[in-house]
Amino acid sequence: MSRYNSIVILTGAGLSAESGLHTFRDKDGIWAKYDYREVATPEGYKRNPKLVLQFYNERRKQNADVQPNAAHLALARLEAEYPGGVLIVTQNIDPLHEMAGSKKLVHMHGEIMKALCAACATRHALHDDITLKSVCPSCGRTGVLRPDVVWFGELPYEMERIYRAILGCDLFISIGTSGTVYPAAGFVEEALRVGAHTVELNLEPSHGISRFIDAIHGPATEVVPAYVERLLKRARS
Ligand code: APR
Repeated sequence: MSRYNSIVILTGAGLSAESGLHTFRDKDGIWAKYDYREVATPEGYKRNPKLVLQFYNERRKQNADVQPNAAHLALARLEAEYPGGVLIVTQNIDPLHEMAGSKKLVHMHGEIMKALCAACATRHALHDDITLKSVCPSCGRTGVLRPDVVWFGELPYEMERIYRAILGCDLFISIGTSGTVYPAAGFVEEALRVGAHTVELNLEPSHGISRFIDAIHGPATEVVPAYVERLLKRARS
């Protein structure tokens, strides 16, 4: 194992599975129960905003009851102890990375514990349900708050910062993601293009497995702490 100067880590739903949150595409996943076109698109929201708000209100309650697992904690430790740069780019909307202590973090698909005002574009910390009667704390309008979540067909957040980090990294790690949703699924290609080492840590081979130089398959709470330990040991030697 080499010593790296700058590490970018992409995380997905599989990282939070052992904390008790469902993934999307596993057999008991969220998209096995819900039609993403109805609950996770701007068109679905326009057609039936009540249904969409209820869907995310349910998920917000689930997210409020879970704790970071050993994989989240290992990544926070890596950020704190690794001598080089470490940036986490998460597709997850849960607050578990922050709860584990990670600070260098981009939520490219938004955050479930925040509301976004569709009228004045301000964001607000949120613990309660959003309804069509909710009032924006900034502009005072009613019925304009939506979950601060990026829906299919919308642009993910902070893409310039993400690409800058990938183009400057020498190690790209992908954890707990199926590699089916773009632009995240294309990040490994960008990392390879700049000569970075690419590693997949996942329960099973993802759709993008062929683009990873290395891969370790198993539950995140086992493979991530072990891999972080190796990185830190190598950095100290
Ligand atoms: N440890 C490691 N990996 C796991 C675990 C686990 N305990 N459990 C499941 N996985 C892996 C699965 O094998 C799968 O490859 O996590 C991956 C989860 O894939 P998805 O459910 O497709 O989730 P993700 O890749 O994060 O989805 C991407 O799609 O639905 C949209 O916006 C949503 O951010 C999400 C995006």
